[in-house]
Amino acid sequence: MASQIEVEALKQSFQEALESTRDIAALDVLEQEYFSRASGKLTLLMKGLGALTPDERKVHGQMLNALKNELFEELGNKRVMLEGKTMSDIAIAEAIDVTQPVEFPPGFGHMHPVTRARWDMEEVARSMGFLVEDGPELETDYYNFTAVNIPPTHPARDSMDTFYVKDHPHWVMRTHVSNMQVRLLKKYGAPIRAAYPGRCFRNEATDARHEHTFYQFETIVVDRQITFSDMVGVIKALLSGLFKKDVKVRFRPKFYPFVEPGVNGEMTCMLCDGRGCKVCKGTGWLEIFGAGLVHPHVLREGGLNPREWTGFAFGMGLSRLVMLKYGIEDTRLLQSGDMRFLEQF
Ligand code: PHE
Repeated sequence: MASQIEVEALKQSFQEALESTRDIAALDVLEQEYFSRASGKLTLLMKGLGALTPDERKVHGQMLNALKNELFEELGNKRVMLEGKTMSDIAIAEAIDVTQPVEFPPGFGHMHPVTRARWDMEEVARSMGFLVEDGPELETDYYNFTAVNIPPTHPARDSMDTFYVKDHPHWVMRTHVSNMQVRLLKKYGAPIRAAYPGRCFRNEATDARHEHTFYQFETIVVDRQITFSDMVGVIKALLSGLFKKDVKVRFRPKFYPFVEPGVNGEMTCMLCDGRGCKVCKGTGWLEIFGAGLVHPHVLREGGLNPREWTGFAFGMGLSRLVMLKYGIEDTRLLQSGDMRFLEQF
């Protein structure tokens, strides 16, 4: 049985040896000398426990175990020191980078189809030098109507009935993103090229083709000698960018108070390639935007002289475009939050 003195002596000789160890190789030798399973000095002491009575074994076993743990820890500390690692090196090596991107399990989430379409169109717009701007959904009736040539008594206000805010008679949920026209002209002046997608609201009885909440994508360009054909080029580029194929457009006169002349624009039905189908009601054409040359009143309201500046604006039904792109038959699905629908994109 190892006496207390023997144990102390072993401990001391180990610590002295450890103290004078200068490299990893020597440390490995020391480790073997004390801890090797067959003939380590400490191992042999432990083996001696077998010859003791149970009571003795308990006392000595505890003592030797404590010693083993102590020496082993000292050995480990020395190893860290010799390897030239500091505690902070170890902390760094073992740290978890909480900013590292994680691969989420499939089905975790993704962009809404309206967002994806909007991004596609924004990218085309930016490539043509357009600013992309965001605007307020809760708007004053001045910017939503009056500024774009729809004065308080104008009948066009009836066709764009919307949600009003109690106790705020001059606030409305914007009925179109054209509320941005005069805001942008005032903010940036001319020349200007801007695109402004966004959410709009109307007091609609909802059905498969009508929603009280929907998205539009509009642009305005004001410069010197802007013509109708400049606008046609931009419209075609945006639609071709979204549908990833060449798109034909056609125009028919239509009244909008904020443009003159104003048109209603159609594109070839991409579901039947213009041959005629249920969606385009056999015409081969789909109505998807309103457009025209910016009305002089609007330019003036934006602080510009209509004799000096000309421009165009067109607004597309973004929800409508998304429905056409993905063959969605009911517009209400876009706002439904229904996972069975959303997971298909
Ligand atoms: N703001 C119109 C609408 O919501 C669309 C439009 C925009 C028409 C720009 C002409 C010019 O119906």
